[in-house]
Amino acid sequence: MEINIPRGTQDILPGTVEKWQIIEEKARELCNRYNYKEIRTPIFEETKLFQRGVGDTTDIVQKEMYSFKDKGDRSLTLRPEGTASVVRSFVGNKLHGWPEQPVKLYYMGPMFRYERPQSGRMRQFVQFGIEALGSADPAIDAEVIALNMDMYTELGLKNLKLVLNSLGDKESREAHTKALVNHFEPRIDEFCSDCKERLHTNPLRILDCKKDREHELMHTAPSILDFLNEDSKQYFERVKYLLDEMNIPYEVDPGLVRGLDYYNNTAFEIMIEGEGFGAITTLSGGGRYNGLVEELDGPETPGIGFALSIERLLMALETQGVELTDEQQLDCYMVTMGDRADDKATALLHQLRKAGVKADKDYLNRKMKGQFKSADRQLTRITAILGDDELDAGKITVKNMKTGEQEEVALEEFVNHVRKTLEEAS
Ligand code: HAM
Repeated sequence: MEINIPRGTQDILPGTVEKWQIIEEKARELCNRYNYKEIRTPIFEETKLFQRGVGDTTDIVQKEMYSFKDKGDRSLTLRPEGTASVVRSFVGNKLHGWPEQPVKLYYMGPMFRYERPQSGRMRQFVQFGIEALGSADPAIDAEVIALNMDMYTELGLKNLKLVLNSLGDKESREAHTKALVNHFEPRIDEFCSDCKERLHTNPLRILDCKKDREHELMHTAPSILDFLNEDSKQYFERVKYLLDEMNIPYEVDPGLVRGLDYYNNTAFEIMIEGEGFGAITTLSGGGRYNGLVEELDGPETPGIGFALSIERLLMALETQGVELTDEQQLDCYMVTMGDRADDKATALLHQLRKAGVKADKDYLNRKMKGQFKSADRQLTRITAILGDDELDAGKITVKNMKTGEQEEVALEEFVNHVRKTLEEAS
């Protein structure tokens, strides 16, 4: 019987996992600078959380959820995104009562969507996201967007495009929804079955239909921006002003509607431009979701956040030829000859590692030649050579692989010598 990896999932092996680690480290470091704290929530939740939180009429809930019954006959779902879970936790743990508001959180972990797999679209993918709950200040919208941008630019990505829209507040949305229904209803027969259904459940989503993208009514559809009331208009102006002040360029696209139901006012996506990226050019997305906390039985609390997937970020880095620093290099490899020398190397290796040096040795009884090859493969900075004769003389040979310099060092000086050599080289 052949056992395959499930479609739309992947193994991340040594050699690639280091890139993930660099990205994860970057995300944590950035969140620390922006004062966002980590939250970890379960990978599965009650199904109704996403039905209510993400929205019953969204593709995610209707088509893409991994839902199952547990042995207690409860309907559970592997989380398709992080926002609903964070809000559930915010309400359940009464984080609205914390003295320091807004509560600024970040998360990183696997999400699951039953989508048609293609490059950049997985069934299990890892999102890094942030959520700021408890402030309706446009400055926090600008901060969230800035952090998202910094994540990309600090890793070296170029040709990014920030696409911005306002979906307005409830009142503006209602006016716009009415106009959309009036616009599409007379000719809804010309649209796909999904759109027909959306007309009365969620007409805004018609604008995001891939099948009917070219229909003339799509191009003439009423723009949300013409329906923003005074408050929503002012809010949007403030967000744009603050982005201008931060020198973050953006493009306003009234067609940007996002695939989840909870958004209002600010909505944004960061896209990547240029060749070689295929069909998927959206790297990340987010927006404001005032109302979601109440929807999930919490007190009235505004919120905003974004999420990106590490898979798409890695694709973008690769397409643009950005190398993440190679963390695979060894600091020191110990080559030995003779049993006593080998035992001593085990002890020295332990000392090196305790002193913070990334070090290794042979464990396959290889001849010296094989050991040198292994050292080369691991791009070691220093090779230390110890034979029984040297051991008797209390010495060890240390070779700096970059300069080719080689010297004999007293055994008791060895660890310090390695550390000094590494320090000088860095
Ligand atoms: P989303 O637009 O559904 O928003 O997903 C955010 C990002 O997750 C996408 O831009 C993409 O990078 C990544 N992503 C989504 N689906 C896949 C997939 N199948 N394979 C690989 N990557 C994928 C949300 O999830 C919202 N929770 C974002 C948010 C946070 N809004 C406010 N706070």
